[in-house]
Amino acid sequence: MSEAPSDRGTALPRVVAIDGAAGSGKSTLAKSLAEALDLPYVNTGLMYRALAAAALRAGVAPDDERGLLELLRALRFIVRVEPPGELEIEGFGPPELTSVEVESTVSLVASHPVVRMHMRKEQRGLGEAHGAVMEGRDIASVVFADAPVKLYLLARPAERAARRAAERQGERDAIGRELEVRDERDARINPHEPTADAVVIDTSDRRPAETLEAALAAIRDRAPGLLP
Ligand code: DC
Repeated sequence: MSEAPSDRGTALPRVVAIDGAAGSGKSTLAKSLAEALDLPYVNTGLMYRALAAAALRAGVAPDDERGLLELLRALRFIVRVEPPGELEIEGFGPPELTSVEVESTVSLVASHPVVRMHMRKEQRGLGEAHGAVMEGRDIASVVFADAPVKLYLLARPAERAARRAAERQGERDAIGRELEVRDERDARINPHEPTADAVVIDTSDRRPAETLEAALAAIRDRAPGLLP
């Protein structure tokens, strides 16, 4: 049967877009939501972290746009779909991607428009192929502006620092100061603001299961077709 002209190209992507600042609870929610919806989980922050790690390995400065682009072209982003898995980056693993060195350069690496253009193209491709729960900073505003469900997570700064300190077994005040610096740089690239059509969830006083329930309620309301 041929497609009616008005239907062509109007199918919405099977993507839940989750944005929010560092430590707002994106990864915890995205992982459990991806499992509940049987969709791949794509953490786009890891893509920028891998580029920052590659630059550190190669001695490329975070302001060397051409050098970064060359490194970016060599990165391989893999998402297993049977069963749905998490984004993996060939040759890069968690201890390196969460290192202090990566955290202190990643927002500079992420600030170059050509780097972002290339990353966004990759992210769009990953999500369009098999659907995804995708977390980042510009997923609802740019990469999947057409996502049927957009979630924006918030948490009080002290709560975000406490979570990061627990995750990284670090000292809370020092981590709080690092987060402030990164917030300030990150907000210059992507303003810390939800899009008008996003459901805002404050995770400060919610347990992970409660945040997941709030997200599932938004999906039941906006895109029940995503539920298994
Ligand atoms: O979410 P995260 O803390 O792992 O992200 C790491 C860095 O990458 C952060 O400084 C912001 C940047 N980032 C971005 O600019 N755009 C995204 N979609 C995801 C992350």
